[in-house]
Amino acid sequence: MKRKFWIDTDTASDDAVALIMAFMHPDIDVVGLSIVAGNVPLDMGVQNALYTAELCGVTMPIYAGAAKPLSRELGTAQFVHGEDGMGDIGLPLTGRTPSPGSGVDKLIEALHAHSGHIELVTLGPLTNIALALQQDPSIAKTVKRCVVMGAVADHIGNVTQVAEFNMWVDPEAVDIVLQSGMHLEFVGWDISRTEAVVTPQESAMIRSLGTDRASFSVDIQRVLEKFCAEETHLNGFDLPDPIAMAYAIDTSVATEAHHWYLAAETGSALTRGMVVMDTLGVMHQEPNAIVVTRASHEKFMSMLVDALR
Ligand code: RIB
Ligand code: CA
Repeated sequence: MKRKFWIDTDTASDDAVALIMAFMHPDIDVVGLSIVAGNVPLDMGVQNALYTAELCGVTMPIYAGAAKPLSRELGTAQFVHGEDGMGDIGLPLTGRTPSPGSGVDKLIEALHAHSGHIELVTLGPLTNIALALQQDPSIAKTVKRCVVMGAVADHIGNVTQVAEFNMWVDPEAVDIVLQSGMHLEFVGWDISRTEAVVTPQESAMIRSLGTDRASFSVDIQRVLEKFCAEETHLNGFDLPDPIAMAYAIDTSVATEAHHWYLAAETGSALTRGMVVMDTLGVMHQEPNAIVVTRASHEKFMSMLVDALR
């Protein structure tokens, strides 16, 4: 019996590679995708997801979800991934049709239909998940586990000094999810920055695999690679969503994890979207999330190559 995944994504250049890792894995049945505004406006995220599924020759329901955060204006990351989110390399990313219906409604439906069996993987802001929880709080107990690409356990942010982008876009949504009782596992941008950087040498190795998926996965990181060189000072490009997906598929990618009490900053402008982690337990609150704090670059790269070869 294949494992059932539902993926919520703001499909841009790293999300697309994470999608390929799930689409191509023999043990994973991707039951559906819900798209959320984040890296790019909603409709672009929908088109990017549809294109990626077509490239992999797979079909599954792909639904549009929230076009903006719960209560804030949308801030995109087109400066990181490109205007189209896919490196602005001229891919034909328009004209495809998503499945009819709301991603939020369809997520709720799927979680009840497969209660206890769906592994939910979130690769973007948590707006859709929060909306689903507001609509039907009982879904928190139907989710087998929820793996979140988000936050930073070392508190070194990528969109502000202390906030990771997915959490920064919709902090109110993070607050709702953290208080929902859902089984949560976080893979933060600290893990991407330290264990999921693909060097130029590794990019060349991936290209040498010779498949469309492999060249696509490198080509669409063109703008991200520039951002990494100029802003985050990484040697190549980092793949936060793919290493979170790798962990979702095989937790042995993580070499260290902790069970901590997490809380989201929604009031301050300076620390908006910071996910504060009680590493010493000083608040004596019940831990509400597992946080990956170390991972294996080698294991991640091996899984990435398996998906792209
Ligand atoms: O901070 C990294 C996250 O923000 C990734 O999910 C990336 O795709 C962007 O959404
Ligand atoms: Ca993403």
